[in-house]
Amino acid sequence: MSEKKFLVIAVDGGAASGKSSTSRGLAAKHNLMHVDTGAHYRTVSLSLLRRGITGADVFSATENPLENLDLGTEVREREAAMSIGGVVPADSEIRNDAVNAVVSQFAAIPEVRKFLFDYQRSQKDVAREHGFDGLIMDGRDIGSVIFPDADLRIFLTADPEARARRRAAEGIADSIAERDKLDSSRKAAPLACPEGAIKIDSTDLTLEQVVEKISAMISAL
Ligand code: CDP
Ligand code: CDP
Repeated sequence: MSEKKFLVIAVDGGAASGKSSTSRGLAAKHNLMHVDTGAHYRTVSLSLLRRGITGADVFSATENPLENLDLGTEVREREAAMSIGGVVPADSEIRNDAVNAVVSQFAAIPEVRKFLFDYQRSQKDVAREHGFDGLIMDGRDIGSVIFPDADLRIFLTADPEARARRRAAEGIADSIAERDKLDSSRKAAPLACPEGAIKIDSTDLTLEQVVEKISAMISAL
């Protein structure tokens, strides 16, 4: 019997389009390791904020405040989380107003994206080492920059009103429209559906329906 192919699935889309919950559902169905790259940008943002850095002005040709950060990966069940100095920050530390307010600004800095590029690519090896059948990574530039060679590239969309309702239902006040605007208009790896990716509008679909739709595509790979 031929060996099962190790799969790489890229899921991109705007804020609250359903990337993480859809990816988690697919990870469980297909034995994939899930990586939420939004959490990487949030974790780096938290680290910068804690050092009193609030803007891009400290990044220069000679100075990169990220240079000496010690990145690691902690795998819990199917979720791989990024640690800095051996510590994975709690969800409440990275998903709050303070981080929401700055994360898209830090994510627009080319040095920040460069810093995370190799780390994010290396997650494929982490998934293999942990015995998963593949990797599912969600973010804004996974199908365009990090894994343009992925086996399947999905781009999720949903009306802004539906996305705001979803976040509100989670009890979270979020600057969705503002972050989307910054993410779509930046020069470095802007949020856009890359050519060849499969676009799915989930405005009128339940989470289960979206998972089913993509699951059938994965089974057909
Ligand atoms: O969960 P939500 O969609 O609201 O955001 P997130 O995925 O946690 O990402 C937080 C922010 O990180 C985004 O608004 C982007 O500015 C940035 N990000 C990025 O630039 N590239 C990625 N691959 C993932 C996130
Ligand atoms: O990761 P991202 O910010 O794109 O979205 P999420 O955190 O996965 O989803 C935001 C919320 O929308 C969650 O509470 C999901 O259960 C919900 N959702 C939904 O109601 N319908 C969908 N088709 C997808 C997600």
